[in-house]
Amino acid sequence: MNIAIQQHYDNLQSGFLKSPRQLLVGGRWVDARSGATFPVYNPANASVIAHVADAGPDDVDLAVKAARHAFEDGPWSRMSPADRAKLLWRLGDAIEAHAEELALIETLDNGKPIKVALALDIASSAERFRYYAGWATKMNGELCPPAAHDGGKFHAFTTRQPVGVVGLITPWNFPLLMAVSKLAPALAAGCTTILKPAEQTPLSSLRLGELMQEVGFPDGVVNILTGFGQTGAAIVEHPGVDKISFTGSTDVGRAIVKASTGNMKRVTLELGGKSPVIVFPDADMNVAVEGVARGIFANTGQVCQAGSRLFAHEKVFDQLIEGIAAKAGKLKIGPGIEFDTEMGPVVSQEQLDRVAGYLTAGLEAGAKAVIGGTKMKRDGYFVEPTIFTSSTTDMAVWREEIFGPVLCATSFSDADLDHIAAQANDTEYGLAAYVYTRDLSVAHKIAKKIKAGSIRINGGMVDSNVPFGGFKQSGWGRENGREGAEAFTEIKSVIISL
Ligand code: NAI
Ligand code: MG
Repeated sequence: MNIAIQQHYDNLQSGFLKSPRQLLVGGRWVDARSGATFPVYNPANASVIAHVADAGPDDVDLAVKAARHAFEDGPWSRMSPADRAKLLWRLGDAIEAHAEELALIETLDNGKPIKVALALDIASSAERFRYYAGWATKMNGELCPPAAHDGGKFHAFTTRQPVGVVGLITPWNFPLLMAVSKLAPALAAGCTTILKPAEQTPLSSLRLGELMQEVGFPDGVVNILTGFGQTGAAIVEHPGVDKISFTGSTDVGRAIVKASTGNMKRVTLELGGKSPVIVFPDADMNVAVEGVARGIFANTGQVCQAGSRLFAHEKVFDQLIEGIAAKAGKLKIGPGIEFDTEMGPVVSQEQLDRVAGYLTAGLEAGAKAVIGGTKMKRDGYFVEPTIFTSSTTDMAVWREEIFGPVLCATSFSDADLDHIAAQANDTEYGLAAYVYTRDLSVAHKIAKKIKAGSIRINGGMVDSNVPFGGFKQSGWGRENGREGAEAFTEIKSVIISL
């Protein structure tokens, strides 16, 4: 730890992490009505770092009332889009001003390397608020000239209105960034919100709640309820909530769809993936090795769009696997708090057991581990970066989302793009796909054939202005970009008989 981080650490210990963190309801920090709390762990050493309130149905009810009041009668409904934009921009500045502290919280809570938390999670969170500040003033409708009626007699147009009170349920892999990716467009659109961060990683969302108060968000616009799946389920079932935006497992996504039918909530889902990576023989091997390794080992593989199924042409297969294994072997694995750490632990004991279970199942089914294959013998939730070859398409490691640093690789020999695409599409998921080739024609043709929400050719990024989401069981709807904000609106058609 360097001196600045040590100072933030000491401050957190004597302040933010010392007493149990409360719920944010209607602008006030309060205990859960039941008084219940639960512990939060540091994945690097399995120690308890904080306690947070465990919100129950009563707390959900109070938060919904506060959000409803702020939406219908409170200052939020009267605030101009330009003033909402100012608040969002100021929040981006506040995140930047507290970047080191927020990165440290994220590292202690989630385990990720602090330099990654700073450069990616916190920097992107600040930028996302600023990006959506711009959309607050641009939620236009359109003129709809009548098709089968006399345009001289009728004038028709659409407006976009905020959908209302929205429940935002987030996962633990990018705790702050996932919360921000929902809050920013929801607030830009004019909604009021109830945020339920993942039980494994609630701390950065709670600190964000304090910053939102400091920059002047009115009471009730953002309510934060920490808790487990039951808390999320109570939000999903609540008749006073108009929309749910969820990121997490496909199983919970399915449960949310079922539970939201009571009042026909709008639902946006960003779910799991088992994304294919296709390396053609003409690819730049340095680019491919670097990209494939980053695509599966970044964030310890806990990335919804991780490239986890590798299809490499037989001419380059050995070279590619050797290169990726060499990179994996050199990764500096350790506590995220150390500045030279490149791969931290997985988030929890449960996740460690899940990933280790897949590793055992893969080996038992006959997959061969070129590198890795087991959890690490050290404190904390550490697992070895792993590459499986000889894994067949019927194996669980090949078919299911592992959400750990585990790559399954196979080779292909033919040049038939339809056949290659069919293999890549042989999954229930459709979040992302990665293609490495220098042939522009092959790149475009295969991009068209693959059923996934994002296709990344020779590398890629996630960007506020580029829609992100899944085909098939990877989700409903898109986040980011114009679509991300419009997902928090209803379209109203106004027809005037002249
Ligand atoms: P999860 O889907 O159970 O949890 C995500 C969020 O949903 C958490 O905030 C949780 O409290 C909440 N939740 C759980 N049950 C709920 C319910 N019935 N109603 C409403 N909210 C509910 O994910 P979990 O169990 O932590 O991880 C399991 C697997 O899910 C991972 O191994 C990974 O494969 C996948 N996953 C995918 C993510 C993605 O980014 N697409 C993120 C996290 C997990
Ligand atoms: Mg779960």
